[in-house]
Amino acid sequence: MTWLWLLWLLPAAAVTYWLLVVTEGAYLGKRAVIALYDWGASSYDRVKNVRPFDDEEHLARPLLGPLQRVRHPLVLDVATGTGRLPLSLLRQWAFQGRVVGIDLSRRMLAIAQRRTFARRQRAGWVRQDAMSLPFHDDCFQAVACVEALEFLPRPSDVLAEMVRVLCPGGQLLLSNRVGIDARFFPGRALSSRVLATNLAELGLVSVRPRRWQVHYDLIQAQKPTRTAANCSTPRHREPTRSRTMAH
Ligand SMILES: C[S@@+](CC[C@H](N)C(=O)[O-])C[C@H]1O[C@@H](n2cnc3c(N)ncnc32)[C@H](O)[C@@H]1O
Repeated sequence: MTWLWLLWLLPAAAVTYWLLVVTEGAYLGKRAVIALYDWGASSYDRVKNVRPFDDEEHLARPLLGPLQRVRHPLVLDVATGTGRLPLSLLRQWAFQGRVVGIDLSRRMLAIAQRRTFARRQRAGWVRQDAMSLPFHDDCFQAVACVEALEFLPRPSDVLAEMVRVLCPGGQLLLSNRVGIDARFFPGRALSSRVLATNLAELGLVSVRPRRWQVHYDLIQAQKPTRTAANCSTPRHREPTRSRTMAH
């Protein structure tokens, strides 16, 4: 009789683990995602074993070269979480620009805000769904999305949004889930081939993938320069339901 229970219990436990831990609520809808990230925000960096030095090397420095062409560049980090990329960028003396981080989880954003408090004039936080970015076209000199694309409902649509707000000549930085791990994200994780096709269809050039972690590649690409026109100042698109979190 006990083994009959086990027969039911084991698959149920496996599915629950997949839904809540492996895919972090991504298949349960927006409310579940917010609830899970709000709940785990205070331990996120520890659990993920975030290493600031590595982030500076792999996430921030590759953006510095292209960004140096602009005096005060603007960078957008989509699904920023605890502000890992913004913080590593703001720590670079060669970066004199500003960073905007958007995320759905209020508590993740609150931690990001705290971590960057000393540089608060150069960081802004918006609570907003990545599916619809509340900015006009061609606003940012760089747009990033790190360890998040596969958690979002329609990654290809998010990519299109990211490219829309990226200014001509701007840099896109993405992580892409690869290897066996990607199989746990059906319909979400994009194969390297599909991602390359998506980026080409969006008109991006100079696509440079590189290995980053066991389960992630990092991809950097450029939006072609249409003219010598500069980026416009980022303005909020109205109406949206985004919430700006002021320092
Ligand atoms: C795995 S974390 C990555 C955070 C950060 N980019 C990093 O590298 O540490 C995924 C983040 O995506 C956010 N997120 C999930 N769905 C989202 C959505 N639809 N719009 C905006 N943020 C979302 C979560 O709140 C969480 O902070």
